[in-house]
Amino acid sequence: MKNYLITGGAGFIGSNFILYMLKKYRTDITIINLDNLTYAGNLENLKEVEKLENYRFIKADICDRDAVMKVFETNEIDRVIHFAAESHVDRSIRNPEVFVNTNVLGTMNLINAAKISWETPDGYKKDKKYVQVSTDEVYGSLETEEEFFYETTPLNPHSPYSASKASADFLVKAYIDTFRFPANITRCSNNYGPYQFPEKLIPLMINNALSGKNLPVYGTGKNVRDWLYVEDHAKAIDLVAESAKAGEIYNVGGHNEKRNIEIVTLIIDTLLEILPEKDARRDLISHDLITYVEDRKGHDFRYAIAPDKIKADLGWEPETPFSKGIKLTIEWYLKNIDWMEHVTKGDYQKYYSEMYHV
Ligand code: NAD
Ligand code: DAU
Repeated sequence: MKNYLITGGAGFIGSNFILYMLKKYRTDITIINLDNLTYAGNLENLKEVEKLENYRFIKADICDRDAVMKVFETNEIDRVIHFAAESHVDRSIRNPEVFVNTNVLGTMNLINAAKISWETPDGYKKDKKYVQVSTDEVYGSLETEEEFFYETTPLNPHSPYSASKASADFLVKAYIDTFRFPANITRCSNNYGPYQFPEKLIPLMINNALSGKNLPVYGTGKNVRDWLYVEDHAKAIDLVAESAKAGEIYNVGGHNEKRNIEIVTLIIDTLLEILPEKDARRDLISHDLITYVEDRKGHDFRYAIAPDKIKADLGWEPETPFSKGIKLTIEWYLKNIDWMEHVTKGDYQKYYSEMYHV
């Protein structure tokens, strides 16, 4: 029986990971989900598992030393999967400080607690693993269509978000190099799927289109992102936690590069394909909703992951083709209109009107 500490498990990827793990391992694992429920954390995502005996939620901040240490003192934690973060680039441009607090100092606090709790006089307790869930954004931006990010690509972050994630990666690397701390770092490309907060491109466009609102495309719409279905990311993290040699770094991505405008166009077309003929929302949706707006400051042009190492070492490959994943995602949002209504109440409206000047 392995005990997992998952941080940020009420967010998009963290909640998908918990649902995946509890489906896969059932009662063979226990999960503690530590999350302080920022605007991005939502326990509604975990309704399906909240009553399970081997799942527990703790509301706490990863920066809170005592709270984090207490989790390690009162539980024999075998795996730490660290998702908790401020994750939105646009918010980091408006308010960078909280990104440094959570993403850098929070990570520092967490690795310290794990190190203290796992240390023995001659190394570490057996079979312990910490996984730092990082991002391809730490590599910076590719300016041509031919290049890819490898694990050996130098880090060159541009936004306050990616700089804070790169800083956290360096801290974890320092703990690996200095203390032989049993950790891996994963760097994944853009995720999409159920439970993603509608500040990110795909759910924002789905939500706006369904209510006939403008679809704000930054700059020329030609920027490229490499999209991965969130469950495929969950599978990669599970594999790394179980099978990767401590100290290794893995890129995670699926050679699925798309220009932003292609994504927005596909969402409109898929909604019109899926919505029933009589659904009144069809009349609101059209390509005329696409509105080019001011570009993101320092907008990275292209991200593209080379996943060769994780394929060669661990046999991981993405399983969900984009055509299937995007349909599953849109269908999920159509079935979960209540979820979208809940997360777009209150603060979201203020964020949206300040961010998009409407
Ligand atoms: P998210 O914003 O949806 O969720 C973040 C979660 O962390 C929320 O539940 C929030 O409440 C929690 N949190 C924030 N600050 C906290 C704190 N101080 N203490 C405890 N909990 C806190 O993020 P996401 O998109 O699910 O991303 C999860 C991780 O994966 C992040 O580390 C992100 O950098 C990384 N990542 C994301 C993507 C992507 O496409 N979304 C891709 C690669 C890597
Ligand atoms: O690459 C991994 C990263 O992907 C993660 O580390 C981040 O946590 C995650 O937020 C995501 O970052 P991006 O900035 O790539 O994602 P976002 O959904 O914000 O934007 C995707 C692209 O779409 C980007 O080029 C900006 C553009 N965009 C975004 C929004 C919200 C628009 O054109 N209009 C929009 O309204």
